[in-house]
Amino acid sequence: MCGIVGYIGTQQASEILIEGLRCLEYRGYDSAGIATVSEGEIHCIRAKGKLNNLQDKLMGHEMPGIVGIGHTRWATHGKPEEHNAHPHLDMTRRVAVVQNGIVENYRELREALKERGCTFVTETDTEVIPNLVIECLNQMKATGELSQHPSPLTEAVRRVVNQLEGAFAIVVLCVDYPDEIVAARQQAPLVIGFGLGEFFCASDTPAILPHTRAVLPLENGELATLTPLGVEVCNFAGQRLRKHPHLLSGASIAVEKHGFRHFMLKEIYEQPSVVRACLEAYIDREWTAKETTHPVQLGLPAELYADLQQIQIVACGTSWHASLVGKHLLEQLAGIPTQVHYASEYRYAPPPLTPNTLMIGVTQSGETADTLSAISMEKERRSNLAPAFRPRLLGITNRMQSTLTRLVDCAIDTHAGIEIGVAATKTFMAQLMAFYCLALDLAYQRKTISPDRLQEIITALRHVPSQIESVLADQEQRVEELAHDFSETQDFIFVGRGINFPIALEGALKLKEISYIHAEGYPAGEMKHGPIALLDAKVPVVAITMPGAVYEKVISNAQEAKARDARLIGVTPPTNPHAAEVFDDLLPVPEIEELLSPLLTVIPMQLLSYHIAARRGLDVDQPRNLAKSVTVE
Ligand code: F6R
Repeated sequence: MCGIVGYIGTQQASEILIEGLRCLEYRGYDSAGIATVSEGEIHCIRAKGKLNNLQDKLMGHEMPGIVGIGHTRWATHGKPEEHNAHPHLDMTRRVAVVQNGIVENYRELREALKERGCTFVTETDTEVIPNLVIECLNQMKATGELSQHPSPLTEAVRRVVNQLEGAFAIVVLCVDYPDEIVAARQQAPLVIGFGLGEFFCASDTPAILPHTRAVLPLENGELATLTPLGVEVCNFAGQRLRKHPHLLSGASIAVEKHGFRHFMLKEIYEQPSVVRACLEAYIDREWTAKETTHPVQLGLPAELYADLQQIQIVACGTSWHASLVGKHLLEQLAGIPTQVHYASEYRYAPPPLTPNTLMIGVTQSGETADTLSAISMEKERRSNLAPAFRPRLLGITNRMQSTLTRLVDCAIDTHAGIEIGVAATKTFMAQLMAFYCLALDLAYQRKTISPDRLQEIITALRHVPSQIESVLADQEQRVEELAHDFSETQDFIFVGRGINFPIALEGALKLKEISYIHAEGYPAGEMKHGPIALLDAKVPVVAITMPGAVYEKVISNAQEAKARDARLIGVTPPTNPHAAEVFDDLLPVPEIEELLSPLLTVIPMQLLSYHIAARRGLDVDQPRNLAKSVTVE
């Protein structure tokens, strides 16, 4: 997390840095700061809280300089206070650094620096970096080495990054070298942008796209030196690398609410289009059961599927919930044993190696550190094994230019478009669609599904966009009214079974993260094994009750909750004959076959959490303590 930017060129840096940070604020908003260099001085200004606070502080403040760096923070080490905000300067104020990531060995480095007379003014891990850089430059000066290097600053940064452990991306500037900035990447994203006589670097392309489409993503272990004349790239060993930018396609991202009160609500409303985009991209529009052609076109290589015996999925948060739905589909439709792992757990306790195993990494941002490191670990431990054990890696993501897609063999683009609201909504829907397509593709190829059944599912999928539209049109007002009743509620329970259990988890997560109300998702049948003790009249229960294999069971589980005085909210079709008798409130969704029902049942969950949070007057799009892209482990 954290967003970092750098600029060197001909324009006033501060404005460009602020614009860039605005595009990266989704990565963290605990504090923000910028530093520029001009006339032998580093000018640094920082503010606690969101970027607007920094902008307010900048009003009427002279911030000269055409070279600068900036940062928007998601706090890891040290409270989100102004003194911990980046950029961090060395004690002589000659070097400034912004960092995204964590320097894991900062304690040892800090102690060693202290012994050498250095004093620290923050609780951050980053503050060691400018102090190490200046120390290194001083040593090079003392030993007469400065003249041996075309860029002494690059050499000093190179020596310093070799001492750092952890996952990080940094950008460094120095008063003694006012015509350059140095950027380095180790397991945290960093992209260089090539303009005309001006160069940029940033944690993500949206900060660069308003200026140029020519970009170069740095790889792990690479350093870039940006000067007004161009960009030089070398590795951490100091070898020069020949690298060329490529042109990004697509428009720069329009970050507009289009009349919606919040991005989250806009993104909830974009879900019918997301489903349509996925169907359009991956399902043959003309296909019928009579055809011998392949209905699902994911463009994945045949080797990925050959003799497939097992699937391991790694993901976090909402992507983990989408993966649980994916597991259900892959097992029930394609008959492939599938395990879903929290990516943060996988790396340190991986399952025993099995042959012919596909690993799928699911991440909307494509930058989640836990997911990336689980995949890297898997790739490494399988790399020198017999062919059946070699890694097969598939990504499911919304960001086809992310670190994920460079790590895996191939990826499914979920076609969701950029999501600004920190709480994932449309990207979850898009991940579900990717899993439906993948499971149907595998089922077709492995002949575990009949053409008629496949046609039935495809036909039903085609109705989903208009069904979502009808839920949004019919339900929003009702949900908003219902939300009024719950703005003071302290605990919520969500229950579902089978393919809707992950939707109960997702409903609870959405509520927790944006309304700060404690919520739990349970398999409905599990309530009686303990959690039912939590229930009383103050704890509402949302029960996802869709016709299908577990319908009667969920109705019984809901009755059990009602008998404990819980206020019961049913997410269920209006045709449910038990609805009036069992539920206190209804959030109706259209009839749909159980297998596809998560695509509809998640909508009332999203609306409910949105309206409860909005009613409580909370910052729905940027909830406290969270960030959109979690790039630390
Ligand atoms: C919840 C949410 C997070 C993310 C999680 C993984 O609304 O957004 O739980 O789902 O941090 O993020 P990605 O999908 O980018 O790997």
